[in-house]
Amino acid sequence: MLTGAALFVADLVRALTVEHEIDFVRASSYRDCRSTGEVRIPASVQTDLTGRHILIVEDIVDTGRTMCRLLEHLKDARAASVAICTLLDKPSRRCEPVNVHFCGFTIDDHYVYGYGLDLNGRYRGLPHIAYVPRN
Ligand code: IMP
Repeated sequence: MLTGAALFVADLVRALTVEHEIDFVRASSYRDCRSTGEVRIPASVQTDLTGRHILIVEDIVDTGRTMCRLLEHLKDARAASVAICTLLDKPSRRCEPVNVHFCGFTIDDHYVYGYGLDLNGRYRGLPHIAYVPRN
């Protein structure tokens, strides 16, 4: 999932021992650190997914709307299986049920940035993950 998961996927694939191909899908719902609720998928995968095992790699699952929208989007692709891997999970914010198969870290309800995640478009290149303290 672009753009947030780009750094995570780059590290993840270098640790994978199974043969795989990489493709990208762009989904967006956040503006000014707030989930807009409206999820758009302006760019989808180019690969034919028929009969393939798909591992969706996400930076963070928050409300779950983006992931649900993507799963719906992939429904007609006739994949053999679909699993979800996310670096971060914020289950306290969930609005839509999402079955996460692989999770790096479960975190509290903070807006986080760095290591691919942005704060209003900035800081994706930080080598660590920071958070915005709530007032
Ligand atoms: P959801 O649809 O609410 O689950 O949001 C998923 C997407 O919102 C992620 O792929 C991120 O791009 C973005 N997002 C959600 N929470 C954060 C955050 O704390 N920092 C940066 N991006 C976030």
